[in-house]
Amino acid sequence: MELARDEEEMLRGGAGLAAKKSMEILVALGEIYGAERLLDVSSVQVAGVSYDNLGDAGLEFLEEMARDGRARALTTLNPAGMDVENWEALGIARDFAQKQKRVIDLFAGMGILPTCTCTPYFVGNLPRYGQHIAWAESSAVCFANSVIGARTNREGGPSALAAALTGKTPAYGLHLAGNREPRVGIRVTERLRDETEFGALGCVVGKTVGGEIPYFTGIDTPDLDSLKALCASLATFGGTALFHMEGVTPDRVMPPQKSIRVTREEIRQAVGDLNDAVEVDFVSIGCPHASLSELGRIARYLQGKTVAMETWIHLARPLKKTADLMGYTEIIEKAGARLACDTCMVVAPLKGRFRGLATNSAKAVYYGRAKNGFQVVFRTLEECLAMAAGG
Ligand code: F3S
Repeated sequence: MELARDEEEMLRGGAGLAAKKSMEILVALGEIYGAERLLDVSSVQVAGVSYDNLGDAGLEFLEEMARDGRARALTTLNPAGMDVENWEALGIARDFAQKQKRVIDLFAGMGILPTCTCTPYFVGNLPRYGQHIAWAESSAVCFANSVIGARTNREGGPSALAAALTGKTPAYGLHLAGNREPRVGIRVTERLRDETEFGALGCVVGKTVGGEIPYFTGIDTPDLDSLKALCASLATFGGTALFHMEGVTPDRVMPPQKSIRVTREEIRQAVGDLNDAVEVDFVSIGCPHASLSELGRIARYLQGKTVAMETWIHLARPLKKTADLMGYTEIIEKAGARLACDTCMVVAPLKGRFRGLATNSAKAVYYGRAKNGFQVVFRTLEECLAMAAGG
């Protein structure tokens, strides 16, 4: 791989040990994938923030990188294992909280913004069309590539951190226009009614296309929350990092000649498969983290009601400030639900605490089952809240 002078310098250690180690990671990655050079990145999203996933080995790696590492591109952080300000109310153990705080402090010390959200595009890390970026967090990667039209591979925790500390990423995969063409057409024959149907569509299509890039037709002007749900589900069930949608996504590409049809029956079947027969004792909304419009829907639904079980709404902390201003926080908290910033039902250490999770996110269904051993009920936002409120 050909390196520019500043890249050579970093690789030699002239910019410090963290930059050297980062450059070694990127060069090794580039060589594996046949990259000819490195690209400058304008934005990075780092994942692998929850101490529940990192453990002590991850913490040690961060300690080492933080000795002289410094971010060279706008970099934000994925959710952590707790609400940074309100962890005690969520029942998080003190020992865990101390380790989690250390992790976040180390990232912040490297100049990484401790946003702790999987929707960086809601809090100021919003790349432009065509820009090269290096994002980890599969749902956000799919959103960035597809909805925004920025260019990123699905980075892992270490490679995203390496991109942050060098401002570089190897030029391969979805950074190259030739690799962004759709390979399989998906014709949706029925109107999708709500976020559960978009999540179910992601599940059906993800499992069908595997790693291929789909081109959707037949979906009429989906709103941002539906696209967010589709991205998370496609990425979870198919490892999809990019899709195109006729009349919606910005990349100008040639539609594939042939299409696979997705019917209402398949959507209904997928929704059914995302449901277990379980009594719900935990309701959790906000995977990916809730938008302002979802927060408005939640407040409108909970106005004057009381929830009868643990009900957590996950969101980026900066959005909570707006929710405060709009009076949403007061309504939601008065109903007994919690706004759990910085974290989510998947990355928080919740194994064994609850049995039955109700959520409107297909991704949360998958990881709720796989990581936390929950059984799940998959319904719309309002239906989940109705369960919480005993209605
Ligand atoms: Fe975000 Fe957690 Fe879902 S990180 S996408 S809310 S699993």
